[in-house]
Amino acid sequence: MRAMAYETYGGTEVLRETRLPLPKVAPGEVLVKVRCAAVNPVDWKIMAGGLDSLMDVVYPAVPGWDVSGTVERLGIDVPEFAVGDEVMAYARKDYVHGGTFAEYVSVPVRALAAKPASLNWAQAAGLPLAGLTAHQLLTRLDTSADDTVLVHGAAGGVGSFGVQLAHALGARVIGTASPRNHDRLRGLGCEPVTYGDGLTERVRALAPDGVTVVADFVGGVLETTLAVLAEGGRHASIADHAVLGAGGQWMWVRPSGEDLEALGRLSDEGRLSVDVAATFPLSELGAAFELSQEGHTAGKIVIEI
Ligand SMILES: NC(=O)c1ccc[n+]([C@@H]2O[C@H](COP(=O)([O-])OP(=O)(O)OC[C@H]3O[C@@H](n4cnc5c(N)ncnc54)[C@H](OP(=O)(O)O)[C@@H]3O)[C@@H](O)[C@H]2O)c1
Repeated sequence: MRAMAYETYGGTEVLRETRLPLPKVAPGEVLVKVRCAAVNPVDWKIMAGGLDSLMDVVYPAVPGWDVSGTVERLGIDVPEFAVGDEVMAYARKDYVHGGTFAEYVSVPVRALAAKPASLNWAQAAGLPLAGLTAHQLLTRLDTSADDTVLVHGAAGGVGSFGVQLAHALGARVIGTASPRNHDRLRGLGCEPVTYGDGLTERVRALAPDGVTVVADFVGGVLETTLAVLAEGGRHASIADHAVLGAGGQWMWVRPSGEDLEALGRLSDEGRLSVDVAATFPLSELGAAFELSQEGHTAGKIVIEI
């Protein structure tokens, strides 16, 4: 099969288009024929060696954890799915090797969900990792209609879902982004504020009594978080472990087919949309990573296989 892979840590120059054998399909896994695979910052962070102390990398390493496609083959004992089913997944395994930037990927059933009818292939690939991250963080913080939620990094892949999911729960949502993203964020159910100098004051002006939940999807914003959090408020970050020393939670998204099915249902009910910012062919994965590295994507970058 065709795949993009690397044999050593580095920047996009280490990515090569290559031919690899079809992945093996373990018991409890399915082989997915990939239609689309979405880019997440973690893909190029791992490739650069940034997670070397956390995860084994087995070369040649095919990056990519997000996928939409059809079930091509079933492993032993997979009664939940049939060949031809349309699926999506956050397909992270315990080590980095056979990722989703390839024609085929094997995926554990625990990570798989049916592709929602409301999403096209690119949108379905863009939902899993970022959507699950936002969903699991808001759930962990017991977010409800009683909350005023501040979302740091509201315009990004994770933030766009965080805003919509908090809004769907009935919460009031304030989100930080640069001004060019404000109209889009209003459309997602959020009161936008510009980040940078003076952020704390701008949030206080909108929520003089403080916010009850802070979802940090960008990092480096702890000072503002603590300054605007109401007494008894909850906060968590996906990008800043310093929150651990400040009464917050540092979160890492877990694969969950069940959670992903719930997000798919929200999409089918018209309460969750997926913005695809750009699409690239497989051979241009390096260019897609470089766009992601600029750090100002509004939505998801998707590779079409
Ligand atoms: N721990 C986990 O489980 C987990 C899961 C997913 C992601 N992450 C990490 O979380 C971060 C975000 O991921 P992502 O996929 O959402 O990335 P992304 O889509 O690349 O995020 C880009 C967005 O960040 C916004 N941004 C940049 N600097 C900002 C700032 N100072 N304040 C507010 N917004 C800012 C940009 O908005 P503007 O264009 O308006 O500037 C842009 O919309 C990454 O570091 C990623 O590695 C962690």
